[in-house]
Amino acid sequence: MSDKIAYSRQGDIAVLTVQNPPVNALSHAVRQGLWDRMDQAEADAGVRAVLIVGEGRAFFAGADITEFGKPPLEPHLPDLINRIEASPLLVVASMHGVSLGGGLEVALGCHNRIAVPSAKVGLPEVHLGLIPGAGGTQRLPRLTGVEPALDVMTTGRHIGADKAHALGIIDVVQDGDPMENGLAYVQKLLAEGAARSPVSEMDPPAPIDWDSAFDAILARGRGQISPAWCVRAVQASVEKPFAEGLKAERQIFYDLMQTDQRKGMIHAFFSERAVSNLPELKGVDPRPVQHIGVIGGGTMGAGIATAALLAGLRVHLLEMSAQAGEAARGRIAGNLAGALKRGKISADQHDAILTQALQIVTSYDTLSDVDLAVEAVFEDMEVKKQVFAELDRVCKPGAILASNTSYLDIDAIAATTSRPGDVLGLHFFSPAHVMKLLEVVVGAETAPDVVATGFALGKMLGKISVRAGVCDGFIGNRILATYRTAADQMILDGASPYDIDAALEAFGFAMGPFAVADLAGLDIGWAVRKRKRAEGQAPKRDATYADTLCEQGHFGQKTGKGYYDYAAGPKARVPNPDVTPMIEADHARLGITPRLFTREEIVRRYMAAMVNESAKVVGEGIARRPLDVDMTLLFGYGFPRYHGGPLKWADIVGLEALLKDIKSYAIEDADFWAPAPLLEQLVADGKTFDDLNKKG
Ligand code: 3HC
Ligand code: NAI
Repeated sequence: MSDKIAYSRQGDIAVLTVQNPPVNALSHAVRQGLWDRMDQAEADAGVRAVLIVGEGRAFFAGADITEFGKPPLEPHLPDLINRIEASPLLVVASMHGVSLGGGLEVALGCHNRIAVPSAKVGLPEVHLGLIPGAGGTQRLPRLTGVEPALDVMTTGRHIGADKAHALGIIDVVQDGDPMENGLAYVQKLLAEGAARSPVSEMDPPAPIDWDSAFDAILARGRGQISPAWCVRAVQASVEKPFAEGLKAERQIFYDLMQTDQRKGMIHAFFSERAVSNLPELKGVDPRPVQHIGVIGGGTMGAGIATAALLAGLRVHLLEMSAQAGEAARGRIAGNLAGALKRGKISADQHDAILTQALQIVTSYDTLSDVDLAVEAVFEDMEVKKQVFAELDRVCKPGAILASNTSYLDIDAIAATTSRPGDVLGLHFFSPAHVMKLLEVVVGAETAPDVVATGFALGKMLGKISVRAGVCDGFIGNRILATYRTAADQMILDGASPYDIDAALEAFGFAMGPFAVADLAGLDIGWAVRKRKRAEGQAPKRDATYADTLCEQGHFGQKTGKGYYDYAAGPKARVPNPDVTPMIEADHARLGITPRLFTREEIVRRYMAAMVNESAKVVGEGIARRPLDVDMTLLFGYGFPRYHGGPLKWADIVGLEALLKDIKSYAIEDADFWAPAPLLEQLVADGKTFDDLNKKG
C-alpha cells in the first residue's frame, strides 16, 4: 500500500493524513493511496466518518504537474473524487495552507469542509493553460453560483478562508490545529446526525449569458484560450445532468492538455522555479544584507529603494544635491502611497518607512555602514566610475558594490575599484518596485558569494532573478536591441509601426514595440543609437526617422507625442501623422521601394530575430540555459506567458523551419541574419532548446 497516506483511527473516525512533501501534490501514488485508504475505512468495523488532512505546508497543491503530458494512470482524479463523494461514510476535509486545483476539487468532493483562517483556496489551472479537470467547474458553481465560480477559475487567484466561507466554499473557519479542528468538527457533525451532503446532488445554479461571458473573457485573455473555456464547462454544469457535465469538463480539459499554450505555460511554471537553481551557488552562503545604499534617486533609484524598503531593508539614498534628494524622496513617497492604497503595507509601516528606514543623504561618508550599494546614476561610464571610486573609498570591507547599468561593461566598472570580486550588476527593470525581473550580472572577477547575495536579495525583494554574463545589454537588452533592429528594418522595407504593433499584439504582447518605446521614452534608444554609431556599430541600413522624432522633442508618452499622439490621454493609440513622412524620407534617402508585410510575416521575422539572438546569448554562455532567456523575456519584456518564452516557442514551431527562414533573410543582410551556431548545431543534431534545459 502507498506510504503517501497514513491511516489512523480516532474512535469512530478514520483519519487519512496526506504525506507527499513538499506540497502534497496529487501524484499517482497519492491518488492510489487515497482510494485504498477509503476502501480500508469503509471496511473498518465501527468507522462512521473519514477525515482527510494534509501534513506539512498544504492540504493539496493540486494535481502533480510533472505528470502532465504523460499517459494518465488510474485512478484518475475525477474518479477518485466521485468515489470519495459517493462513500456511505461522512467525509470531511480539514484544510490548511493551500488547497489548489485538484486539491480544492478533492475538498469539494468531501461532504463538509473546515479550514484554518490562514488557508487559501483556488483553481489556478488557467495559469497552466488548462481548466479545472476534476469536477471543479461542476461543483464550485453549485456552491457559489456561476459568476463567483467563474471569477475564481478564470483569474486563478488564491482566495482566503474567510472569503471562501462567505462564498459558500468552506463551511467552517476555525483557528487551531487542522487535525484537532477537523476531529472536533466531525464529532460534532456525527453527534448532530448530520446527513452527507454531496455537492453533485445540489441543484445547478441559474444560467447567465454564456456567449457574452465567453467573448468577454476571451478578449481579456489576449490570445490565451483556457479562461474562456471555463465558461463552456460551467455552462455544462447548468445545462446538463452532473455526470454529463463532468464528461464535458473532461473533454475540454483533455483538449487543452494537447495545446501549445499548455506546453508553454507549464514550461513557464517550472522554469520560473528553476531559474535561480544554479549549481555554482550550491552550498555558497550569501552575505547578510539588511542595509543598502542606493546612489541616484531618479526613476530607477527611487524604484529600487522602494522595493528594498517594502522588503523591510534600511536604505540610505544618495543624491547629488539636497534638492535632487527631496525629488527622490517625493518619488519614493508616491510609490509607497500606492503600496498603502493597495493594502501592501499598513499606515504604521508606511510612516515608519518614511521616517526611520529611509535616509536621504548627499555625502558618501554616510554609506560606510551599508551591506550593499547599488548605483543607479546616469548611463555614463565616466560618471559610474566616479561613483564606484567613492563607494570603494567609503564602503566597509565585504560590502557589495552593484551597478544597475542597462548596457555598460561591469568588468570595466569593477576594474576601477580595489575589490572587483565584490562588484556585480543588479539590473532592475522599470518600475523597479513592480517589475519582477532582476538580472544578476556576473563579472569575470565576481566572487561566488557575491553572486549568491545577488540572488538572495532578489528573493527578498520578490524578484525572479536570472544569472547573466557581461556583454552589451546582458541577456534582455541585447536581445531587445536585435529584435528592435529587425522591426526597424521592416519599417525601412515598408511595414508601418502600427502594422508591427498590431501584429505583435495579436501574437500576445500587451503592447507592440513602438507603443513600448513611447512608454519607456524614445530618448533611451536615441542615446544607444548615437553611442553605437560613434563606436562604428550602426546597422548597414541605418534608419533615421526615430532620431528625427527625438530631434523634434518627441520622446513618447512623457512629451505627449512619439509614434502615437497622446493628446487624448496615455491610453490613446492615435498614430502620430508626422511619423509616416519621416519614414518616407528614409525610403527616399536609401532608395527603397516599400512593400507590403502580412501580420504573419511580421511576427515570423521579429521572432526569428529574437530566437537567433537568444541562441547566440545561450551559445556564448551569457545565459546559462535557454530557460534563463525565456524567463528574462517573460518577466522583463512582456513576452506572452502562454508561449513559454522565445526559445520554448521556437521548439514548438520547429527549429528547422526557423533556421530556414533565418537563412532566407540572410540573403538580404548576411551580417544581421547570420545564423546562431547553437541553432545550427541543434538542427543538425535533431535536438531542441529544451534538451539543453534538462542538462541542468
Ligand atoms: N505538482 C508538482 N509539483 C509541484 C506542484 C504541483 N501541483 N506545486 C508545487 N510543486 C513543486 C514546485 O515545482 C517546487 O519544486 P522544486 O522545489 O523542485 O522547485 C516545490 O513544489 C515547491 O513549490 P514552490 O517553490 O512553488 O513553493 P511555494 O511555497 O512558493 O508555493 C504553491 C507553493 C502555492 C503550491 C505553488 O507551488 C503553486 O502555485 N503550485 C501550483 C498549484 C497549481 O497550479 N495547482 C493546480 C494543478 S493543475 C490541477 O490540479 C488539475 C486538476 O484540475 C485536474
Ligand atoms: P534618471 O535620469 O531618472 O536618474 C538618474 C539619477 O541619478 C538622477 O536623479 C540624478 O540626479 C542622479 N545622479 C546622477 N549622477 C549622480 C551622482 N554622481 N551621484 C548621485 N546621484 C547622481 O535615470 P534612470 O532612468 O533612473 O537610470 C539610472 C540607471 O539605471 C542608468 O544606468 C540606466 O541605464 C539604468 N536603467 C534604467 C532603466 C529605465 O527604464 N529607466 C531600466 C534599467 C536600468
